[in-house]
Amino acid sequence: MTACLIHISDLHRGTREAPALDDALVALCEELRPEAVIASGDLANRGRSTEFEAAKALLDRLPAPTLVVPGNHDLPYRFPTRFTSPWDRFTDVFATTDPVLRTDHAVICGLNSARPWRHQGGRLGPSRLAAAAAVLRDAPPNALRVVALHHHLSGAPWRASRKFPLKDRDKALRSLASAGADLVLGGHIHQSTAVGRQAFEALDDNRVSLVLATAPGFGRPRPHRLGEANGLHVVRWTNHDLVIEARIWQEAEFDLASEYRVQRHVHADLQG
Ligand SMILES: [Fe+2]
Ligand SMILES: [Fe+2]
Repeated sequence: MTACLIHISDLHRGTREAPALDDALVALCEELRPEAVIASGDLANRGRSTEFEAAKALLDRLPAPTLVVPGNHDLPYRFPTRFTSPWDRFTDVFATTDPVLRTDHAVICGLNSARPWRHQGGRLGPSRLAAAAAVLRDAPPNALRVVALHHHLSGAPWRASRKFPLKDRDKALRSLASAGADLVLGGHIHQSTAVGRQAFEALDDNRVSLVLATAPGFGRPRPHRLGEANGLHVVRWTNHDLVIEARIWQEAEFDLASEYRVQRHVHADLQG
């Protein structure tokens, strides 16, 4: 069995229209038939209902279930709405800010890391981490345990001066890892990266693989800026390995730019 997810992030609807990318995403989903498509925040650019509806219209074209979490650009820019009803427009369209999706071979836990009082930064409080741990611990032994949030836990060393990673990311990582997370998905910085935890942290048990994957931006709201290659990630896994493909938009299609592979051990093996 090889299972597949598609991870997109930072659509930033309300900025530049790119119908060719939208059409290519639909075609890729029809070709790969992913178990789910995950959109990890910044669906809108200024938290407007029309922007959410435009993002939903694209997701509704995809032949797969979708899971959507909000980002900092999904908060209203207006005061006092940003503080009095920060998520009403988002939940009017996407129902919840912290969704859970169970597919044939994965359990995907979406977490809202955006906060009204932070412009760029993000955080996961203890209650959200505890809720995620409960979902992950309840997953079937062979399921890929996925967490999706907007703010990145790891990022490319490029234009990183203002876009900080998730606050207290080491604590969040430890909490999610101890709950059995296999894969943590983020976005926010509009740059692709993927890394296995055992590649940067000494662990007692190197069989426990947890991959951090930050998607490139699907949208490109600031085309005058260099360095924002746009595209998406394809996640493929078996009981033996997990692969993150970075597919970058090149003229007319999402070309394979890089592939990150880690060995994986299913939780049933680890318990045995
Ligand atoms: Fe963004
Ligand atoms: Fe963002």
